[in-house]
Amino acid sequence: MSATTSKEDPIVIVGAGVFGLSTALELCQRGYKNVTVLDRMLPPVPDGSSVDISRIVRYDYSDPFYMKLAREAVQSWGSGPFHPYYYNTGFVLTSEEKSDAFLEKLKGLLRSQGQTFKDFQTTQQLIDEFPHLKDVKQEFTGYINPNAGWADAAGAITALAARCSELGVSFVTGPRGTMTSLRIDDSRVTGVHVAKGPPISSSNVILATGAWSNQYLDLTHAVSSSAQPVGFIQLTSEEAAEISRMPVVINMTSGFFVFPPTPHTNILKVARHSHGFDTSIQVDGRTISSPKRDVNNAASSYLPDDADEALREGLRQILPKLADKPWVRRRLCWYTDTPQGDFVVDNHPTIKGLFIAIGGAGHGFKFLPILGKYIADCFEDKASTEVRQKWRLEKSSQTTGPMVCNDGSRRGPARRLLTAQEQAKL
Ligand SMILES: *[C@@H]1O[C@H](CO)[C@@H](O)[C@H](O)[C@H]1NC(C)=O
Ligand SMILES: *[C@@H]1O[C@H](CO)[C@@H](O)[C@H](O)[C@H]1NC(C)=O
Repeated sequence: MSATTSKEDPIVIVGAGVFGLSTALELCQRGYKNVTVLDRMLPPVPDGSSVDISRIVRYDYSDPFYMKLAREAVQSWGSGPFHPYYYNTGFVLTSEEKSDAFLEKLKGLLRSQGQTFKDFQTTQQLIDEFPHLKDVKQEFTGYINPNAGWADAAGAITALAARCSELGVSFVTGPRGTMTSLRIDDSRVTGVHVAKGPPISSSNVILATGAWSNQYLDLTHAVSSSAQPVGFIQLTSEEAAEISRMPVVINMTSGFFVFPPTPHTNILKVARHSHGFDTSIQVDGRTISSPKRDVNNAASSYLPDDADEALREGLRQILPKLADKPWVRRRLCWYTDTPQGDFVVDNHPTIKGLFIAIGGAGHGFKFLPILGKYIADCFEDKASTEVRQKWRLEKSSQTTGPMVCNDGSRRGPARRLLTAQEQAKL
């Protein structure tokens, strides 16, 4: 925010995902009168990462900052306006190792914050807690966090967008809502150029453009987009009933995770939290990894063969009876990765009036009920030093080559650049 921003001044937020919408809502609640959200499509944007049936909601973090923030978020999911979209099913973290270093770290932090969890040393002990997991055959250890679960992502985003609209946020979608570039005069943002018609002028622009961000600004030293595989299976009501009381399970050896079937619709979702896939596209003479701008990136339903097989293998290990059922849909979910999994919420260092709120790094969605408050505090320059430091935009980097996320939570194979043939199928 520039020193002169008043509550009457226009604010354009580009991006209707969890970062953009939670910020829009909070700014309206703080009295800003002229807030406009732009996006290519109506929220929930089908190829964004704030969409589809589920996201894990948990506070198991190896960084005390996020554990604290996520505890606040979990509490808010449980009791606040978004509670209809939250399912407190419990969360199970499993490992091959007898004492997995990462899980030990999580447990140590949970203990130090006075949080309860339940260790298990054998698969049978887990099945005793969750009989719906009776078909798991592998031997492994891990722990259960009972105060966690999942949220209906599309449902919560739809409710959030509706609330923004009620409070007076303007929405522009389609070609008029599709930013093609920032409009900058003399190191000051004056609005955005859009795919159709005259530019949209505004003295404040907040970029909440997620995985598309590097198309608009060269932020490759701070964020890099990776695509992660997701698959959906339609269960019969009998199949769903058999596992309806299972928790969310993540395999901290492979990165595979699975949700309980969705109530009423009986869809089973599986995915992998790993280092993901890169693409290479040309934008303004630069080569970046990014989803495309002018298409629905979720439409093709294509997954690389190795990723498809990894999801099948994960299912065989946890829900073997369902492992060969056909996908009803598959997609690549785009993460906006950062070196340590920290969000990037900061003023642009040289372009006045430009503020950035991106970098979900595959774990941002769970903060939906509280994220806007922290982003608006940064925007108004009221946030704590700790938050400002954590979420600052690094000026440039010493790193060479593609940046990968090392927040400790990623498993599975190393990041891989999709081949030209694979990219042609996206
Ligand atoms: C909001 O800002 C835009 C861009 O400056 C301006 O054209 C419009 O009149 C403003 N709307 C209100 C209600 O102030
Ligand atoms: C986790 O993944 C590893 C590697 O694929 C596998 O050996 C193990 O059986 C899996 N554990 C569970 C609980 O599925």
